[in-house]
Amino acid sequence: MSRTKTNTASREELAVPFLPGHAVGDELTMLADVVACRAPEGDGPFTRRVERWLETRFGAPRVLLTHSVGAALEIAMTLYDLGPGDEVLMPTFNYMPAANACLRRGAQPVLVDIESDSLNLDPACARRAVTPRTRALVTACYAGVAADHEALEAVARDHDLVLIEDAALGFAAALGDRALGTLGDVGAWCFHPRRHVTGGEAGALIVHEREHIRHAEQLRERGTTRQQVLRGEATSYDWVRPGMTALPSDLAAAYLWAQLQQLESTLARLRGHVERYRRGFAELAREGRIELPPVAENRTDNASIFYLMTPDQESRDLIVQGLHDKGIIAGQHYTPLHLEPMGRDLGGAPGQMPVAEGASGRLLRLPLFVDLTPSQQELVIAEVRHCLERL
Ligand SMILES: Cc1ncc(COP(=O)(O)O)c(C=O)c1O
Repeated sequence: MSRTKTNTASREELAVPFLPGHAVGDELTMLADVVACRAPEGDGPFTRRVERWLETRFGAPRVLLTHSVGAALEIAMTLYDLGPGDEVLMPTFNYMPAANACLRRGAQPVLVDIESDSLNLDPACARRAVTPRTRALVTACYAGVAADHEALEAVARDHDLVLIEDAALGFAAALGDRALGTLGDVGAWCFHPRRHVTGGEAGALIVHEREHIRHAEQLRERGTTRQQVLRGEATSYDWVRPGMTALPSDLAAAYLWAQLQQLESTLARLRGHVERYRRGFAELAREGRIELPPVAENRTDNASIFYLMTPDQESRDLIVQGLHDKGIIAGQHYTPLHLEPMGRDLGGAPGQMPVAEGASGRLLRLPLFVDLTPSQQELVIAEVRHCLERL
């Protein structure tokens, strides 16, 4: 999916790796605490600490940690009883967890084209895709930049659709003063190892409606009322509905807790790297040889991804190869979901979503990680220029 070219050199030998993991330093201390308490199971002290911290920091009524974005989105779709006969609109330029969640519920994912500037769901295309069977709309936020939320909200309102925010790339990003992930009826964040803040395999569900909170807690925990026991409201718990086992271990929550304590410095460093790339590529952009991602108004991004648009797919692939030969790992990002083998099984074919297909071919994703150094960035910038000059 995120088909970054591999290089057989070890990470240490690479001039610039793509996305090496980042440890903030306190992970072992937190993990030692879990070991000392002999309590690695889910919903332990770190899980609760992380959830309360996220709720307070981002103004979310209830955050439930999960082991994945996919699990969070499946719970979200279950809360709204999406299932056979229902259609769910979603951007074709995204990772697959929302489509998987939809299929696992027996509903039909309807893939929709994106806007050429933000690379997010195009509200006009979404509106055209609505049918009498449409029940929900999933929005995503490529590179941590919010979609045209107002227009998408209007589509949802006009057709009485549930608005599900797949904010996998939007953790700690905002639209105005509202955190991404909290804008829809229900939302999800990602703490996968490929994100800059991680718990190993982890995600989170953001729930707003009171009636959904208890339901979501039960769905996450095997369809049981165990949360009530943890809150001291009951002494034993019951199995009350079909549920999932979607809790992360407290080990994952402890790792994530350590990373969250350094969130501001992580974001500051990443944003600094993005600024340096923007300055370094400004001249090539002025010369019209590449396009930089637009700077979106009223949006605070989280510097989760840095990409350029190259003139065409051939030049993108040549640049990826040229960088690779110098030990710099860069790559493309999503293949539009309708062109994946699974997407084709669902009826997808080339030409159906021209904006996503064009963007996917031209997008060059560059190394961006917390410990990236200015000299590594200079090297990336110089090599991209060099590759473009040889085209
Ligand atoms: C946009 C997006 N969504 C979701 C995920 C991970 O999904 P899951 O936690 O279901 O494996 C990733 C992982 O990199 C991602 O980039």
